[in-house]
Amino acid sequence: MIESVNLTKFYPPPIKSLFDLKSLRDFLGKPREKIPALIDLNFRVREGEVFGLLGPNGAGKTTFCKIANALVIPTRGNLYINGYDSVKEHDKIKGKIFTIFGGERDLFGLFQWRVSVEKNLRFIAELWGIPKVEAEKRINYALELLNLKDKKNEWYQKLSAGMRQKVYLALSLIIQPEVLILDEPTVYLDVFTKREIWDVILELSKEFGTTIILTTHNLNEAEALCDRVLFFNKRKIAEGKPKELIEKFQALKAERKLLIKVTGDVKTKDFDGIAERINVYIQNGLTYLELYIKRNNLKDIFSVLTNYNVVDIQNETVTLEDVFTYICSFDSCVNSKVEEKS
Ligand SMILES: Nc1ncnc2c1ncn2[C@@H]1O[C@H](COP(=O)(O)OP(=O)(O)OP(=O)(O)O)[C@@H](O)[C@H]1O
Ligand SMILES: [Mg+2]
Repeated sequence: MIESVNLTKFYPPPIKSLFDLKSLRDFLGKPREKIPALIDLNFRVREGEVFGLLGPNGAGKTTFCKIANALVIPTRGNLYINGYDSVKEHDKIKGKIFTIFGGERDLFGLFQWRVSVEKNLRFIAELWGIPKVEAEKRINYALELLNLKDKKNEWYQKLSAGMRQKVYLALSLIIQPEVLILDEPTVYLDVFTKREIWDVILELSKEFGTTIILTTHNLNEAEALCDRVLFFNKRKIAEGKPKELIEKFQALKAERKLLIKVTGDVKTKDFDGIAERINVYIQNGLTYLELYIKRNNLKDIFSVLTNYNVVDIQNETVTLEDVFTYICSFDSCVNSKVEEKS
C-alpha cells in the first residue's frame, strides 16, 4: 500500500549570482519565494491497484516519483510505501520498489552501454538476487512479451530510444517488484510500442498483483490502464475511477453533444428552447448540426428530427481528457501566490 500524507515539496529559489550585490542582498536578507512542487498531497493506493497521477507540466509528478525513491526530500509530510517512510526508511523498501523514468533516462545508471541486452538483464537480475534458472525464465518471457528477442545480442548503446524504454520495462517483469512507479513511461513512443508497454503494465497488475503508480499526459492511456486516477496540480484537484469521474462530469455539465447529418435546409428556430447551443455547417452536400442538449431533452430533439431527412446521428462521448481539461481550466494553483518563504 502507498500512502501520501500531507506530502509537500518546495524547492529552494534559484540564486542568480552571489557576486551581484542585489542577488547577495536578496540571498542574505529578504525572504525569497520558494518553488512549489507539491502541496499537502493526500491519497492512498491499495495493493495491486494501477493508480494514475495526472497533472499538467510542472504539476509535481516527477517530484513525487523522486520522493518515492529518496532522490528528493519532502519539505514536510510523508510518503509511506508498504508502511515505511520512503525517505527515512528507504533501506526497508529498496528492493521492493522499482521506478522507470520515461524518455530514456537511465537515472540509476543500471545499464552498461557496450554490453548486450541479454547480458545487461542477466547482470541486473543477479544484482536483485534472483536465482539463475528463474532469472533465465523471466528474461526469456520478458523478451518474448516485448518483442525484443531479435535484439537480445545487440549492445544496449545501439538500441533506439523506444527499444531502450522497452528493455527498461522488461526489468519490471524480471525483478517483479511489489511497487512499480512509472513516470511517463510511453513518452515519445510510437503507437505500437505504446501498446506493447500497456500490455506489460496490465500483465504486471493482473498476473503479479504489482501496485503501480503511473504518471502520464496521455489521458487515453490513463483511461485504458488505471483503476483510479488523481488529478492534481501541486494540490489535489479530484480523485476517482476514470468512469466515475466521466459520469460525474456529465452530470455536472448535464450536457450531451450530438452530431446530426441531414439533407436539405435546417431551421435553427425549430430547436429553440430544447438545444443549449447549436452549430450548423454544410459539407459535401450535407448539412451538419452540432447540438448541445440537456440529457433529458433527447425525446424533444427526436420529435423535431422527424421533420428532417436524417442521414446519420453520432453521439459524441465524453473522455477523461474532456474532464481533465475542464477541471484544470478552473485550477488557479499554478498562477496563485504560494506563501512559503525561506
Ligand atoms: N531541482 C529543482 N529545482 C528547482 N525547482 C524544481 C526542481 N525540479 C522541479 N522543480 C520545479 O517543481 C515543479 C514541479 O516539477 P516536476 O518536474 O515535479 O513536474 P512534472 O509534473 O513532472 O512536470 P512535467 O509534466 O513537465 O514532467 C516545477 O515548477 C519545476 O520547475
Ligand atoms: Mg515530469
